Amino acid sequence: MTKIAPSILTADFGQLDNEIKSIENADYIHIDVMDGVFVPNLSFGFPILESVRKSTNKILDVHLMIKSPSVYAARFAEAGGDIITFHIEAETPETIMKTITDIHNCGKKAGISLKPGTPAEAVYPYIENLDLILVMTVEPGYGGQEFMAEMLTKITELREYIDSHNLKCEIEVDGGINIDTARLCVAHGANVLVAGIDVFKAEDRATHINELRSIT
Ligand code: DX5
Ligand code: ZN
Repeated sequence: MTKIAPSILTADFGQLDNEIKSIENADYIHIDVMDGVFVPNLSFGFPILESVRKSTNKILDVHLMIKSPSVYAARFAEAGGDIITFHIEAETPETIMKTITDIHNCGKKAGISLKPGTPAEAVYPYIENLDLILVMTVEPGYGGQEFMAEMLTKITELREYIDSHNLKCEIEVDGGINIDTARLCVAHGANVLVAGIDVFKAEDRATHINELRSIT
């Protein structure tokens, strides 16, 4: 079953509670945290995550696009994140395992994200400890960018690795997802789709989420 994770990056933060209610039929709510250093853009941090946590019981899928996530990962877990995903490019091999353990010690799920230029095999040393791999299908930093079709082979490689090693790690894709690119991603092995503008600009968000979810 395909899971849908709308990104609130393009939500109206002046009425966040209503915005969250409009996507209540989603599987996860995707929370993009940007620090202006790891990516050339700033978004929000703990206060917004805590507000979203108060508005919904949904699974909060936190995507950390920040430098030194090992310092902050546990705090995002404690602030209400259910899945905490950080970028492999933002940490050293020594601190990657520690970050995963810190997240698990909070009773939360841990994910690693790969920028477009990072190959699938970079995650293999950690994959047995991961609950999710987030394949970026745009350069992280902004919503509304064009989907990079070259990432489809990375999704296939990860799906083959996960299935052949009997792992249960999810494969999430993020960036430029719409009905057409969602079909391609699911056909290549992704099972969680992040969608920002495509959901938030839809006339009927709930119906659109159901349409995306029906892709198999
Ligand atoms: C990009 C973020 C995405 C973004 C997706 O750096 O990680 O989650 O919000 O936006 P769309 O779906 O509009 O490309
Ligand atoms: Zn994201």
